[in-house]
Amino acid sequence: MTNKFRHFLNLNELKSSQVKSILKKSHQLKKDYRKIKFSKKKILAMIFEKPSTRTRVSFEVGMKQLDGDVVILDHADTQLGRGESLEDTIKVLSRYVDIIVYRGSDEKQIYDLCKLSTVPIINGLTDDSHPCQILADIMTLQENFKSLDKINISWVGDGNNVCNSWIHSCLHFNYNLNITCPVGNFPKKEIIEKIKSSKIKLFDDPILAVKNADVVVTDTWVSMGMKNSPERLKKFKKFQINKELLSKTNKKTFFLHCLPAHRGCEVTDEVMDGENSLVWNEAENRLYVHQAILLWCLKEI
Ligand code: CP
Ligand code: NVA
Repeated sequence: MTNKFRHFLNLNELKSSQVKSILKKSHQLKKDYRKIKFSKKKILAMIFEKPSTRTRVSFEVGMKQLDGDVVILDHADTQLGRGESLEDTIKVLSRYVDIIVYRGSDEKQIYDLCKLSTVPIINGLTDDSHPCQILADIMTLQENFKSLDKINISWVGDGNNVCNSWIHSCLHFNYNLNITCPVGNFPKKEIIEKIKSSKIKLFDDPILAVKNADVVVTDTWVSMGMKNSPERLKKFKKFQINKELLSKTNKKTFFLHCLPAHRGCEVTDEVMDGENSLVWNEAENRLYVHQAILLWCLKEI
């Protein structure tokens, strides 16, 4: 994060006080939905190089409910699709709008764009991170636990962008994070080492990883831009969140998934639709978290 602009790029770059004030505002925005507005009208541009339902709609609705407005740029129907560079596009957009959400592949790209932008940029997902999602997940947990201190969270599945942002979040919260993935699919060592947390533990065996879990989290086995294959699905099979695996926690365990879910792969219907599934509240909370991020980036909190 540069000092001049409040970009929202990765959770490990924010101070704990900033993360906590965004979350506090998110709860307030939920309680007082439609009552909180920008001090003056703001316009958001969103660039999507990958598909989106939740991020796109919740930012759009969130902006409109704050009395702001939104412009969405899809590759196909803008000059981006004809080869105009993202760099040039950002320089132009910065002259029109107050803030930008960018969803793309290359994590480095978003940092390069920040060097050119004269307005704040929000990371709407890259191949390596999904910080907006994790704040909504944490907000959802705060609604269901008195305190997040020492609760046990188990990530089961692919060590992907969402998992990386969970790792980053350990800098700000005192929960334990067990991570279990097929061999070869763990998050990169550097990401874990950088956080220097004894609260993060890696497991090969999902049954050991979920022991005592208060929360089990998963995501697709095949993220956007990845190649699917029968071999890959086979490798992940024992990492499916089903009733049997959840019975190994030996306690009431909540289920989180950023969505979209692939029912029958990483999660079964009975878990997705079960009484301890928080996935719909988690999706709803994207709305308030995004509003709070917008207010924070625009220095209104
Ligand atoms: N969870 C999430 O970011 O969903 P979308 O891809 O639909 O935005
Ligand atoms: N890991 C998933 C998250 C989707 C919101 C992906 O990148 O496709």
